[in-house]
Amino acid sequence: MVSKLLGLFGLIVLTQASNFPEGCEPRQVHIAGGADASKSLTVSWTTSDPDCGDFSVVTYSSDGWANNVGNAGGNTPTQYNQTTTKYGTYVSPYLWSCELPDLDSNTEYSFAFGTTQPSPSALPSPAYNFKTAPSASSSPCSSLYPTKIAMVGDLGQTADSASTVANIAKEEVDFIAHAGDMSYADCDHDRWDSWFDMVEDVSSNTPWYVVGGNHEIEHSDVDGEIFVAYESRFNMPRVKPAEMEPFTGDTSCTPSAFLGKYDWGNSFYKFAHGPSTFLMLNSYTDTAPDSPQYAWVESTLAEIDREATPWVFVLFHSPFYNSFSDHQDEEQQILMKGSMEDLFIKYKVNAAFSGHVHGYERTNNVAHEALDPAAPMYVIIGDGGNREGHASGFIDSTPPVWSAFRDNTIFGHALVTLLNETHAEFTWEKNVAEGVFETADSFIMENQYYL
Ligand SMILES: [Fe+2]
Repeated sequence: MVSKLLGLFGLIVLTQASNFPEGCEPRQVHIAGGADASKSLTVSWTTSDPDCGDFSVVTYSSDGWANNVGNAGGNTPTQYNQTTTKYGTYVSPYLWSCELPDLDSNTEYSFAFGTTQPSPSALPSPAYNFKTAPSASSSPCSSLYPTKIAMVGDLGQTADSASTVANIAKEEVDFIAHAGDMSYADCDHDRWDSWFDMVEDVSSNTPWYVVGGNHEIEHSDVDGEIFVAYESRFNMPRVKPAEMEPFTGDTSCTPSAFLGKYDWGNSFYKFAHGPSTFLMLNSYTDTAPDSPQYAWVESTLAEIDREATPWVFVLFHSPFYNSFSDHQDEEQQILMKGSMEDLFIKYKVNAAFSGHVHGYERTNNVAHEALDPAAPMYVIIGDGGNREGHASGFIDSTPPVWSAFRDNTIFGHALVTLLNETHAEFTWEKNVAEGVFETADSFIMENQYYL
């Protein structure tokens, strides 16, 4: 034991520049709030060595490392591997996650990797910062507002993707909600590592919630496994462990139209952040009325206390309303809209955000293709900037009555600013350059719950 400790000490000295033992420098750091984002947060990261001792511990503080210091973690990392005919066998880095529990609401925290240290100068790693959500039961309720949320989809890792991420960073949002299609690794899993590197400056400081898109399916043509990287690399506030089955049919790595079996886990879950509740759903698993996802969506929507969280949003990848030519009439889209649109209407969901189509489209409030001010608004935000380029065009040059704004020429992101319990500002921000963007669509949302 002594020699092991000395060996560890020697490594620390030798790698003084990074302060980490070789192989234990944390990479791909990303955070997501818990089911109640005012109370907990999960830190995820990777290393190339599985035995990192004290450096597998996350130390955190809400008062500049003076007194209020806690630590968590020290657990065992996981790994995943996937084999495909095209890329052979990929073995992931060691994947770590650590929940920081019992946090104070509406509080700024710092965290770092390594055991508790008495002063900032002695910290073993750079400190990261985040802020917990205000408690939904806060009084006065004005402390809940404004809440700023960035929405993005189909991001990828091109120069345009980097511009979108840089622009989101400038918004200083409370959190990011991503409507699927993150890395476009497409079964070349090294590209997951490079994607997490690309987003790390933002994802290490801003809670980033995701849903699985078709580019997360990553079907293995060797053993049929699906969603392996997505379920392994992200740590969303899971309701319970994932239940998933290999897909035995013949399909590509990232089929555009697909229906498999992947429930719970990162597949569908919810979180509450300040005055909002988000349901994060999966277009590519069963959505029928007798499915686990449908039953969970119905019971969850029925239980939301709209006095505590007046705003309710859903995210799923494959859009219900889409006047672009791309991705029309896909199986999972038809089935999910057929089963769940009535739930969204019944429970006064404010808006649904999707991706898949590489453009931006905002609808008027709509129910079954007819305008209805009490029904949800649907937004396609698949314009994050991935390598597949823009959506090809529209079904018809005249937009349908429910389509309020659409564009397939510019990449960008959307911003939702919750102003109070009845009104929110929605904008679509188009990329001008990296770190430069401008508002191209702007809209004041009225909360249908109060109509
Ligand atoms: Fe997609």
